[in-house]
Amino acid sequence: MERKQKEETYRQVTDQIRATLEGERDLIASMATIACLLHHRFDYFFWTGFYRVVAPRELLIGPYQGTLGCLHISFDRGVCGAAARQEETIIVPDVHQFAGHIACDPNSKSEIVVPVFNERDELIAVLDVDSDQYDAFDEVDKRHLEEIVTFLRDKT
Ligand code: SME
Repeated sequence: MERKQKEETYRQVTDQIRATLEGERDLIASMATIACLLHHRFDYFFWTGFYRVVAPRELLIGPYQGTLGCLHISFDRGVCGAAARQEETIIVPDVHQFAGHIACDPNSKSEIVVPVFNERDELIAVLDVDSDQYDAFDEVDKRHLEEIVTFLRDKT
């Protein structure tokens, strides 16, 4: 997707997410809304969803859109585990080059994983977006997705 178009689409979808979540306090409902709105706005989003921190160093599938996702992911495994461990966004242009990548769906070719924090700055989840195209994600996706997950900070 061309950069200018991508920026504009993110601006629109961010406004839509902000407006839809206005007054909503429930975390899962908010995650489901974000996954749905993002997934259907971008053609290159093949799998869009959340893995929640449910135990020390353990992620469990949360609201998502796309094909079947793996249910449990340890912090020791995959791109999601690495992002959770480092508490930083990770962009992987080619998942086949990422040691330990978990292939939930063989059509997944590139990926971005963004950490999600609560009001106390504790890691509560990661947002995982996979694409069926190589090199689909860049700094524009990173910046906007990091902003979008801040809408979850005060949800419980
Ligand atoms: N690819 C991810 C696993 C999750 S799914 O692709 C839905 C990873 O390596 O963390």
